[in-house]
Amino acid sequence: MPDVFANITSVPDDMLEIIANVLETRAAIPSQQEMLRDYLSEITFPENAEVLEVGCGTGPACRVMVDWPNVAKVVGVDPSPVLLTKARELSRDIAGIEFEEGDGKSLRFDDASFDVVIVHTILTHVPEPEAILAEAYRVLKPGGSLGLCDGDFSTATLQTGPNDPLEACTGAFVEGFVNDKWLVRRMSTLTQAAGFEVQPIRSYGLIETIAPGLTMSWVDRGADALLAQGRIGSELAEALKAEGRRRAETGSFFGYMAYAALIAVKPT
Ligand SMILES: C[S@@+](CC[C@H](N)C(=O)[O-])C[C@H]1O[C@@H](n2cnc3c(N)ncnc32)[C@H](O)[C@@H]1O
Repeated sequence: MPDVFANITSVPDDMLEIIANVLETRAAIPSQQEMLRDYLSEITFPENAEVLEVGCGTGPACRVMVDWPNVAKVVGVDPSPVLLTKARELSRDIAGIEFEEGDGKSLRFDDASFDVVIVHTILTHVPEPEAILAEAYRVLKPGGSLGLCDGDFSTATLQTGPNDPLEACTGAFVEGFVNDKWLVRRMSTLTQAAGFEVQPIRSYGLIETIAPGLTMSWVDRGADALLAQGRIGSELAEALKAEGRRRAETGSFFGYMAYAALIAVKPT
């Protein structure tokens, strides 16, 4: 099954509504907020910095960056008009933030237009991540910084022990929503190959046990994908979802994935 995010403009509106909610749910998780703030704090934002986020979705990272010290303007680009409508709604009272439709592989901006470019949890989803990095390099000013962050989907798990049936959902979710689950392992070399000077990679993690939001969506999206592919029937799909809820209610739910971020600089 192809990665939903890589084909975002052909995704039905009801699925986009779910994705928009998942993106906002994830962005509200304290450890995700800390991760974003932690790696942003390693970036040099010159005075009146102009910042681009490639693949902004509903814009949660743009809303954080627009309030960041020295930042004058944030532009969020995404190919999905539906996600962009949501992004504009959520930032309608915020000055200094703009959203526009576009493909990170062929941006409309001139060379050397931005001081900072952020690519937050998109590289694992797009075929040809090299093209995204090449465009980020082109539109950055010499000396400008790239902030790159993604989930290491090869570590994603809902498993609480051997032969855990819920793990079928993780596998189906990753198959359906991720293009390259190993991408984080190549993040440094890909970024270096694009011409950047790369700093050491930073490690983060997300664990949900009580009130799981993001990782409960893996249960639902995984079970729905297995059902849609005819690999299980509707009774088992519902049973997997019910098992996820049972674990959440009894405090035995466990969802985990490692994340990584790196900062890279375009040489002067
Ligand atoms: C997992 S979401 C992350 C959204 C946002 N950065 C966040 O952290 O909430 C991946 C995003 O990449 C976008 N995307 C997919 N293909 C893209 C491309 N070729 N160029 C730019 N963005 C793309 C999707 O529309 C989606 O909004």
